[in-house]
Amino acid sequence: MQSDLRGTAFRGLHIACIMDGNGRWATLGGRPRRAGHRAGVEAVRKVVEAAPGLGIGTLTLYAFSSDNWKRPEAEVRALMRLLRIYVRAEQARLVRAGVRLTFIGRRDRLADTVQSAMATAEHATRDGGRLHLRIAVDYSARDSICEAARRWMQTAPDSRLTPSREEFSACLEKVTQGNAAPKVDLLIRTGGEQRLSDFLLWESAYAELLFFDTLWPDMNAEALRRAVAVYHTRNRRFGALPVQPSPNETHFHLLPVSKSQEKAIMNN
Ligand code: FPP
Repeated sequence: MQSDLRGTAFRGLHIACIMDGNGRWATLGGRPRRAGHRAGVEAVRKVVEAAPGLGIGTLTLYAFSSDNWKRPEAEVRALMRLLRIYVRAEQARLVRAGVRLTFIGRRDRLADTVQSAMATAEHATRDGGRLHLRIAVDYSARDSICEAARRWMQTAPDSRLTPSREEFSACLEKVTQGNAAPKVDLLIRTGGEQRLSDFLLWESAYAELLFFDTLWPDMNAEALRRAVAVYHTRNRRFGALPVQPSPNETHFHLLPVSKSQEKAIMNN
């Protein structure tokens, strides 16, 4: 467990989600893509509400990547509008639920109205201690890493030195507006594709990966519960050998679970 720079500790898992499949969800129903994004916001609400009860302390959602600027202008506008509406509409509910909302990614390319909604919500929810909700907007892991390298060169006592992992992590945290978070435990991608799309590459070095066929708008508390159940069957070794349980100890995490057993957990 790590604590953020304001000293609020968020206990529990860090789950990161690549919320893919909104467009296909809409197209399957014969609707415009923006209807899929609207339905995606409903799924965000469900997941945020369920997270604290599932032992999740930090939830990072990928709402808009720096490469998403390449999408048609109308879709970008619709996404930015949804983001602004979500942030303004949810603020009071998040405060009541003890959720601290922060954002990662660049802000300088966002409209002033979006930037100010984000800053207001960050301020209003700053004391939330049940869940740290981080929304990635205009985010690129590679750009963040490059920016962290620039900071290292500017601030290190001798910029020719190679930073340690901890020193580099500290630079990276400053790039994410000082809102530190623990390393990612589980990275979920919905929508059937199996790639990382420039999301939290450094922070996910030892994350468990879980790919759902479910399209993001169909994501809900039950699907999240199953994802967490699968996570708890994984044997995390961080490059070391598995810890051997003592003979009279049966440890859930150390029982190898096959991919078909994982599928059964997901489908039950
Ligand atoms: C990827 O699906 C999804 C996005 C680029 C946007 C995700 C945004 C939301 C879920 C709504 C806004 C979020 C918040 C937090 C208010 P896609 O459009 O690429 O789907 P496709 O692969 O089916 O085309």
